[in-house]
Amino acid sequence: MKIQRTLSPTAASIPLRHLLCAPLGLLSGVKYRNQLREDLKERFSAHAVFVLSSGKAALTLILKALAVGSRRRRVVIPAYTCFSVPSAIVKADLEVVLCDVDPETLDFKFDELKSVVNDDVLCVLPTHLFGFTADVARTKQLCREHRVVVVEDAAQAMGAQSSVGPAGTMGDVAFFSLGRGKNLTSGTGGIILSFSPALTELIEAEYRQVPEPPVREIICNWVETVLMKVFIHPGLYWFPAGLPFLGLGETKFYTDFPIFRMDEMRACLLQGWSDRLDQSNRGRRASAHRLMEDLGLGGREVRTSASSESVYLRLPLLMRDHSAKESICKRSREVGAGISPNYPTTIQEIPQLADRIAVRLVPGAQDIVERLVTVPTHCFVEQQDIRKLNRILSGEGSDTAIPLHGRATADESRRRPCSVALK
Ligand SMILES: Cc1ncc(COP(=O)(O)O)c(C=O)c1O
Repeated sequence: MKIQRTLSPTAASIPLRHLLCAPLGLLSGVKYRNQLREDLKERFSAHAVFVLSSGKAALTLILKALAVGSRRRRVVIPAYTCFSVPSAIVKADLEVVLCDVDPETLDFKFDELKSVVNDDVLCVLPTHLFGFTADVARTKQLCREHRVVVVEDAAQAMGAQSSVGPAGTMGDVAFFSLGRGKNLTSGTGGIILSFSPALTELIEAEYRQVPEPPVREIICNWVETVLMKVFIHPGLYWFPAGLPFLGLGETKFYTDFPIFRMDEMRACLLQGWSDRLDQSNRGRRASAHRLMEDLGLGGREVRTSASSESVYLRLPLLMRDHSAKESICKRSREVGAGISPNYPTTIQEIPQLADRIAVRLVPGAQDIVERLVTVPTHCFVEQQDIRKLNRILSGEGSDTAIPLHGRATADESRRRPCSVALK
């Protein structure tokens, strides 16, 4: 454990006054929750909104609702994504089907998507990783012929905007996560947006059976959120980061997560969420642009990103090779810079899925695992951190000098700002 300024890979702030007022939520019935649902419905022009205890609870509920009365059991997801996604599919008793991912766009490889989508597929999950909008319209086009539902995984992209529309409004149904490192947080939490009366009816039927959380769970979430508020600060983050048993930043596959409605205390924490979300996303964008400019990745690509309004939950960078990634992550750990190696494997390699998932080659996802790092962009990233990050990423001061010739790639035709390749 080294006592030094330490950035967390991702963070979201909660105003102290909301945190202190939240326990009053225990006394306020469902006033804040109803207000939250109304406000979300309005901002995202959704047909209906449901709020739950986490993003994976939201996804599980969507999947269970879709599976009612359908013989289809297959759910197509990117081969590189958060492990919570297959966890929810297994929890809903459905089958995980992978589609490889293009390392340049972090979106599906669409030729492959075309070959896996058929009449046995229940739904496909285009995913806005790190706040970069996926091409949902193209996914929808492929799904239409087979009457496959498009579930937008907008867990990491609340507030992002593509040329087609805001993240979370382009699929048939979508979900956001309000987990600790997300664009907006209530400690944990999840939101479902439905865009069709038929889907709303199915989800409503499932939601009716979802219990309210026990008081113990509500209080635990509040205490954890208070601790997060204190220790996420770079002056203190060295402490939890130095406690390996906390497993901070670890990605785990597990299916014994609870499914509850969002409690009033969490809803209370989200007061003023719309402005907070926009403010936090503006800050992330500004940090990402500063980083890219300092790294010599500015210019055309930065403008592209700005016009597409990615929200840069993190700034993804593809390193030259695996050893460059390893040395950058090691250096970052030494100086507390918050660079993260992200998901440790492709979904294919999750041991608990070994006998549940058809083996297929996913070289794109494998390449991302080998080379991708993400750089923090959150509200605690200051100019001194940007200088530090810049030094690490350009190899200065590290014993392995990493040759960098900045090259940002962006596929403007799809208006998806993509990962930045450092070669
Ligand atoms: C892409 C993606 N989908 C789903 C989830 C699940 O959300 P939660 O952590 O709120 O359960 C996450 C969370 O990290 C995510 O990143």
